[in-house]
Amino acid sequence: MNSQTGTPDHADTRVGGGSEIDHLLEETRRFPPSPEFAANAVAGAELYERAQRDREGFWADQARELLHWHKPFTQVLDWSMPPFAKWYADGELNVAYNCLDRHVEAGHGDRVALLWEGEPGDDRRITYAELTDEVKRLANVLTDLGIGPGDRVAIYLPMIPETVAAMLAVARLGAIHSVIFGGFSADSLRSRIDDAGAKLVITADGGWRKGKVSPLKPAVDQALGERNGLGVQETVEHVLVVRRGGNEVDWVEGRDIWYHDVVPQASAEHEAQPFEAENPLFILYTSGTTGKPKGILHTSGGYLTQAQFTHRNVFDLRPESDVYWCTADVGWITGHSYVVYGPLANGATQVLYEGTPEFPEPGRWWDVIEKYGVTIFYTAPTAIRGFMKQGRQIPQARDLSSLRVLGSVGEPINPEAWMWFREVVGAGACPIVDTWWQTETGAIMISALPGVTETKPGSAQVPVPGVSIDVVGEDGQHVGSGNGGLLVITEPWPSMLRGIWGDPERFRETYWEKFESQGYYFAGDGARLDEDGDIWLLGRVDDVMNVSGHRLSTAEIESALVAHEATAEAAVVGAADETTGQAVVAFVILKESYLRQHGPEGLAQQLRTWVGEQIGPIARPRDVYIVGELPKTRSGKIMRRLLRDVAEGREVGDTTTLADTAVMSVISAQVR
Ligand code: WTA
Repeated sequence: MNSQTGTPDHADTRVGGGSEIDHLLEETRRFPPSPEFAANAVAGAELYERAQRDREGFWADQARELLHWHKPFTQVLDWSMPPFAKWYADGELNVAYNCLDRHVEAGHGDRVALLWEGEPGDDRRITYAELTDEVKRLANVLTDLGIGPGDRVAIYLPMIPETVAAMLAVARLGAIHSVIFGGFSADSLRSRIDDAGAKLVITADGGWRKGKVSPLKPAVDQALGERNGLGVQETVEHVLVVRRGGNEVDWVEGRDIWYHDVVPQASAEHEAQPFEAENPLFILYTSGTTGKPKGILHTSGGYLTQAQFTHRNVFDLRPESDVYWCTADVGWITGHSYVVYGPLANGATQVLYEGTPEFPEPGRWWDVIEKYGVTIFYTAPTAIRGFMKQGRQIPQARDLSSLRVLGSVGEPINPEAWMWFREVVGAGACPIVDTWWQTETGAIMISALPGVTETKPGSAQVPVPGVSIDVVGEDGQHVGSGNGGLLVITEPWPSMLRGIWGDPERFRETYWEKFESQGYYFAGDGARLDEDGDIWLLGRVDDVMNVSGHRLSTAEIESALVAHEATAEAAVVGAADETTGQAVVAFVILKESYLRQHGPEGLAQQLRTWVGEQIGPIARPRDVYIVGELPKTRSGKIMRRLLRDVAEGREVGDTTTLADTAVMSVISAQVR
């Protein structure tokens, strides 16, 4: 055990390396809410009291107050078959109706839903009435293509309004979407399409990224081509293609359909049907500790309740006057819950931006904030650290005075980045909410509430009302204030994952087995409680890396590396990186047979590119080291902890459990 954190030795509980934990605990700055903000805040301390008194009653109230139910529910939580929860099970609703039609019916049809900004500088304003109309047409098209309740639809699109429409049209029909991040490769796309058995793929010719069109449809063609010899039955019947990039694309007659050929012509009459609260809404793949991504399954009523509740209270949202902007791509859970479902269920006006932060120059995001008068800005620590490097003169050259609430998500935010965010972006006046949650939790679980919580730089702080969290030791016992351990969720919550698509056993094993006797959900994160009982997140304790806020598994990248003809064995670690939080570092042993024919020259670079092609550019290792051996225990397990020491340029730790204790000095010399 590690004495500092109470976590097992292999645990990566460092934030940015070194003695960061101690450093964090010395953080004593405090920022109470301003009296004016507190007086007008959407959330109040009474939310905690209400939830404390009766947690299920609290969530029942939220679901009733926030959502429109076609058929009201009478049951709240059914936890009779743990870990498979049901929330609001006898109620019926339509998720898309809740995000669209009801706002139009309430007289808000003219309110702007999306302020869309394309990377080349083109823009579109889309009202709730217009978005509703588009979704109804698209729902009619999807129905004609044979999509109905329970069918899976893969969505592989850039950040354009059609992407939001596609997700909502699928939801409207009671079908299930699986959004695949546009940065993933054809291989990743194929395995996700196959795992879900998708019937339809919605894609675009390409989207704009860094001043160029980044093609998408060719990856779909590749994924759906070359099936020979894989023994996989093709499930995809059609590919619906949005024209965005204007790049030339191949066409498969009978399979491929242009969006603009069918959607504008379709009828805009479409009545939303009610579906059971537990009707599946989406599958979203995320990295786990094995090579195979997990299809995290979310359902309708509980998910939407918590997404909407947290979006309103954590961001202090006033739908009539705020301009909200979450910079996440819809390919990630943050884009699902805080670009699509939360904001639209709340009837918010939001910015949707297609491109990268630095195009055509490093101030693009600040230009977007100035242009649209953004009031609530939700982004990731990796982006903030990137901006810090470029210097404060860039944001300071813009008018950011519209901002009033700032949010952070995806990885621990170091106090320096937090302070920079507060001072340079928020002019020292905006509350910052550091929100901890996961693909699996569906919505925010730990966060300050603006106007209520006195904030601490670097701490996510307290569970949101109605959520029960603890930090425990390996034995499942509460560690107590001032101690570190493992983060667990002790009670079911409305937006919890309902399982892993097609693999109930893996669901049980991954999240519930570790603390089975207590019935706790194991999040995979290390955390520490300070003297006030506030929570400080310390990073993953398993073999999942967090690179720029994106989850990547070491096993997945290792299996891509060994799929290359030159590689005999590979080990991957996440090493601390100033900008991206962690960076992928690979250690590779080459095949003798390969070395007899080729030299190792240029191979490290080739392997980096290869991983990028196999999984996607986000998985491309920062460094690939060609080594002669890997450090293994006597039972053959690779000791990644030691490789991480090398990758981070530290003295190598305890090697006594290695089968060959000399191996680390050989590796260190080879890396140098
Ligand atoms: C990490 C993203 C510290 C954590 C919403 C978690 C965070 C993983 C924070 C989930 C935060 C997310 N502070 N760590 N505020 N937010 N994480 O599934 O390790 O992409 O387990 O969901 O990101 O990543 P995921």
